[in-house]
Amino acid sequence: MPNATILVVDDEPLIRWSLVERLRTDGYDVAEAPTGKEALQRVAAGVDLVLLDYKLPDIDGVTVLRTIKEHDPDVIVILLTAHVSVDLAVEAMKQGAYHYANKPFNLDEVAMQVEKALETTRLRREVRALRASQAQPYSFDRIVGEGPAVVAVKALLKKVASSPASTVLLTGESGTGKDLAAKVLHYNSARAAKPFMNITCSALPEALMESELFGHERGAFTGADRQKRGLFEVADGGTVFLDEIGEMVPGLQAKLLRFLEEKTFKRVGGAVDIKVDVRVVAATNRNLQEEVKQGRFREDLFYRLNVLPIAQPPLRDRVDDIPRLVEFYVDVYNTEFKKRIRGVSADAMTQLQRHPWPGNIRELRNAVERAMLLTEEQTLGVGDFSPAGAAATLRLGAVELPPAGLDLEQLERSLVVQALERTGWNQTKAATLLGLNRDQIRYRIEKFELERTSPAKN
Ligand SMILES: Nc1ncnc2c1ncn2[C@@H]1O[C@H](COP(=O)(O)OP(=O)(O)OP(=O)(O)O)[C@@H](O)[C@H]1O
Ligand SMILES: [Mg+2]
Repeated sequence: MPNATILVVDDEPLIRWSLVERLRTDGYDVAEAPTGKEALQRVAAGVDLVLLDYKLPDIDGVTVLRTIKEHDPDVIVILLTAHVSVDLAVEAMKQGAYHYANKPFNLDEVAMQVEKALETTRLRREVRALRASQAQPYSFDRIVGEGPAVVAVKALLKKVASSPASTVLLTGESGTGKDLAAKVLHYNSARAAKPFMNITCSALPEALMESELFGHERGAFTGADRQKRGLFEVADGGTVFLDEIGEMVPGLQAKLLRFLEEKTFKRVGGAVDIKVDVRVVAATNRNLQEEVKQGRFREDLFYRLNVLPIAQPPLRDRVDDIPRLVEFYVDVYNTEFKKRIRGVSADAMTQLQRHPWPGNIRELRNAVERAMLLTEEQTLGVGDFSPAGAAATLRLGAVELPPAGLDLEQLERSLVVQALERTGWNQTKAATLLGLNRDQIRYRIEKFELERTSPAKN
């Protein structure tokens, strides 16, 4: 892997020098550090492999190793040690060391280990990239996730895809993957070679919508100067995806019900019954049962659609899938932006798994995209993700201690006050802005003896 960046960490200049010379000759980019502290600074800027002396003057090797791995699990670390005890070797492996080399070492051997280790990660990355590029756009693999909720949804989708079932209802909050599920269903069914037609039920006035769905005859209404086939007719043999079905106007709900029950329809202004074979996949982020109760959605249509309901779980209920989703989108945007981001630091991942994701996977995708556009590092860190993707990101590295120092208590107080004022003294929201929980913000309100001066916003 030429162009790989290797960091040589050793406090003995002669050892550093011999390794650096050798690895440069082999064609690598080589950086060096005499202390653990400097090593960690250099790692933050992105490296592929670290040759790490176990005995450093400032921080012990295992701690440095652990910190590197926390920052970026993909970095390979080879430990250099004078005498390896079994305990140390075991501990090093546990912390993710790739290998260790005994001092005094043979340069050829170390060089070979480096080459082998880099080759392994290169292959691993290639396989990942290949898998991403070859995954058909709408194969089942496109639905990322291995938690029980997603596994169940995928199993159900698979069953339904290969079944003759003619109606499916997809429910779930915005951004949970209803569109994606509809396409995966279609492209993995016997209907895949026939059209997938997609319409948003709230987009058009009733008359226009009706003619979109069912078509019209020439002269059916002013302006209908030629016959037009509707979506159901065009999609014959395929799938019609009715998005936002909860917003369909009542008049059309009746016509759709008739179509679902009889598989026939008339074009607007037409007299003949037309028969087609389409699977109708309807989607909604509303609670249709509630809509029925409120009298906004026909009960009979609801039961007709609800024969095969598939509920997409919200992202906050499947936080275990977040690392895989992040990895998936890092791969996607690496290809799209021609970048070589390695992934997300452990801290940032913890933060991502704590976020409630009201916008679900769409919000997560946007957060990763944004972080990858803006970052200059090779690993995405906490500072690259702003809470809820807000425009004003405070990049932690950018906050600089003024030369004269500052009063930390005062700064804290001011930030707490700002958060409370911005949220109209909503303690939960203010706490979220500061990455605190309610108890922590309450403690600070008391500590600073803060009192609300303006009336409550609501
Ligand atoms: N399991 C998943 N794995 C990978 N990507 C996903 C997954 N689920 C959803 N996505 C992606 O998240 C984004 C939002 O998904 P989608 O558009 O299907 O949501 P939706 O439920 O239709 O939302 P809305 O109700 O707002 O229309 C898309 O880019 C989609 O590809
Ligand atoms: Mg959608």
